[in-house]
Amino acid sequence: MTDAEQELRAAALPVATSLAREAGALLRQRIGTRRQVAHKGTIDIVTDADVAAEALIVAGLREAFPNFRLIGEEGSRTTAAEAASAAYGWVIDPLDGTTNFAHGYPHFAVSIALEHRGDPVVGVVYDPMRDELFAAVAGGGATLNGEPIAVSSATSLIASLLATGFPYDLTQREESTALRIAFNNQTQGVRRDGSAALNLCYVAAGRLDGFYERPLNAWDIGAGALIVREAGGVVTAYDGGPFDLYGREILACAPGVHGAMVAVIAETRRASGVVAESTVPPGIV
Ligand code: IPD
Ligand code: CA
Ligand code: CA
Repeated sequence: MTDAEQELRAAALPVATSLAREAGALLRQRIGTRRQVAHKGTIDIVTDADVAAEALIVAGLREAFPNFRLIGEEGSRTTAAEAASAAYGWVIDPLDGTTNFAHGYPHFAVSIALEHRGDPVVGVVYDPMRDELFAAVAGGGATLNGEPIAVSSATSLIASLLATGFPYDLTQREESTALRIAFNNQTQGVRRDGSAALNLCYVAAGRLDGFYERPLNAWDIGAGALIVREAGGVVTAYDGGPFDLYGREILACAPGVHGAMVAVIAETRRASGVVAESTVPPGIV
């Protein structure tokens, strides 16, 4: 990596951090208030706060880094021409945990990642209700409120606590249900608390030993995947192969349980004969 690239990544972190904090403050202010809720699907919702938080983040990123690509869950995009010429791209989830937020359940986060040719290089996840800021720059380790964090030293599934999530598409839950049963029977528990970004950060901080979910989008996992990696965790696809930010699935865990988690997934898939949910990636815009 050139010095210029290193400087650019170091400059991106404080910008992403302060925008995540600002957007988080907005969400914290609005959580108890009346919200406008629109449906993207039967149970997939979006609130006025998701849209306002994304607008705030995107305005700040565009001002500071006008030449970067940008993709936000609530529709922010750079033009095709801009996208073609930029090696760096922002990937933004202004509110990860919208369902929680809309119900007043205080567990959600802002997630901002910077990727370089598809590889996350800067990641920030901010939980405004606990004032917890998780961050990482590739090669620089991971932190929680400025203090270094590390994944757990778990080596057996039966002593592990995992987390997962389920697809918004209710017709596509066969595989996740089978995996939930399998992991539930072989671990201390499998949590489902509605924020993939925080699930990943909790793996990074050693609060969870592993997390798996599909299908997910790049904005759910871009920052968290880097934070886990930088905290010493393993981040792969379900089959243990290389992680693809736009590949729609993630298995992130302590190194000591990775082999066992891959084996449970493979065995469950083999036994149930379930075909995985949608494999259509959203693509790099
Ligand atoms: C969702 C959360 C949830 C996960 C879903 C995601 P959203 O993001 O991360 O935990 O299970 O797959 O889509 O919609 O709240 O931004
Ligand atoms: Ca999300
Ligand atoms: Ca979201």
